[in-house]
Amino acid sequence: MSILEAKNLSFTYSEEDGKGEEVLHDVSLSVEEGSFVAILGHNGCGKSTLAKHFNGILLPCGGEVYAIGMSTSEEKNIPKLRKNVGMVFQNPDNQIIATVVEEDVAFALENLGVPHDEMEKRVSEALDIVDMLAFRKHAPHLLSGGQKQRVAIAGIIAMRPRVLILDEPTAMLDPKGRKEVMHALHRLNRQEGITVLLITHYMDEAVQADRVVVMNEGKVLLDDTPAEVFQNIGLLQSVALDVPQSAELMYQLRHEDVKVPLSVLTDQECVEVLADLLEGKYGDYRNQKFNT
Ligand SMILES: Nc1ncnc2c1ncn2[C@@H]1O[C@H](COP(=O)(O)OP(=O)(O)OP(=O)(O)O)[C@@H](O)[C@H]1O
Ligand SMILES: [Mg+2]
Repeated sequence: MSILEAKNLSFTYSEEDGKGEEVLHDVSLSVEEGSFVAILGHNGCGKSTLAKHFNGILLPCGGEVYAIGMSTSEEKNIPKLRKNVGMVFQNPDNQIIATVVEEDVAFALENLGVPHDEMEKRVSEALDIVDMLAFRKHAPHLLSGGQKQRVAIAGIIAMRPRVLILDEPTAMLDPKGRKEVMHALHRLNRQEGITVLLITHYMDEAVQADRVVVMNEGKVLLDDTPAEVFQNIGLLQSVALDVPQSAELMYQLRHEDVKVPLSVLTDQECVEVLADLLEGKYGDYRNQKFNT
C-alpha cells in the first residue's frame, strides 16, 4: 500500500500575486508503507518543497497529494496528517526546546494531552529506539550534534507517526554523528515499521535505501533501486550529482574495457570485485592499456 502519494503535483510559491515561478512540475511519486526511500537532487531542485507537501505544510497548486490515505487539501485531515507524518529538519538546535532531554521528547505529547504514565512510557521507548536512553536527564545543549539530532527524532517518534520525513538530517553533523543518526533511522524502519523518506546530499546514505528518487529542476528524473539508479553515472553527473565512489570506479574500469559488474555500491562490494579482478576473474587486466 502506498502511504505517501503525489499525483501530478505542481507548485508555485506566492501564486496569488501571479509572479511566482513553478518549482514543482507534474511530480508523481508514491512511497510504499514500511519502505526506506532516499531523495537526491541538486540544490534548489524542489526536494524540501516536495517534502513539505506530505503533511500539508504546503498545499498543491495543481494535482493532488495523499498521505496515510487522506488528501492534504482537505482542512479536516490536517491534524491527523501532522500526527502521522513526522518531519525532522537539518538543524537540531532549532528543534530542541526544553532544557532536559526527556522533557524535550515529552513536549509534543504534553501538548496533545497524553496522560502522564503513557507519556513516560513513550518517552522511554522513543529514547531507547535512538539509543539515547542513558541521556534522558542530560541537558540537550551539552550533547554532540548527532546526539541532539537523535533527541529531535525521539521527540517525533514519541508521537508514534507512521511516516518520518527527514530533510537533510545529517548535513550539520560530523561523520560519527551521521553514522549514529543513520543507524537509528534504519532501526526504526526495520524494527518499528516506520516508513522513512530521507532527503540527503550523501550518496553513501542513499545507497542504504530501498529506493532512490533523483529530482532535477522540479521533476522526478530517476526512481528505482540504488543499484539501478547509480548505473546512470553520466546522467547523474549531468545534473551535478556525485555518484558513490565505488560505482564511479567500476564505471571507469568499464570504460577501459575491464568487464567488472556495474551494480557495485558499497566499499565492501568494491573490495570484493577488486580482489576478484586481481585474481584474473575479469580477464587479464595487466594487458589492458589504461588511459591514465
Ligand atoms: N519560501 C519560498 N519562497 C519562494 N521561493 C522559494 C521558497 N522556498 C524555496 N523556494 C524556491 O523553490 C525552489 C525549490 O526550493 P527547495 O528548497 O524545495 O529546493 P531543495 O531541493 O530543497 O534545495 P536544497 O538542496 O538547497 O535544500 C528553489 O528555486 C527555491 O529558491
Ligand atoms: Mg532543501
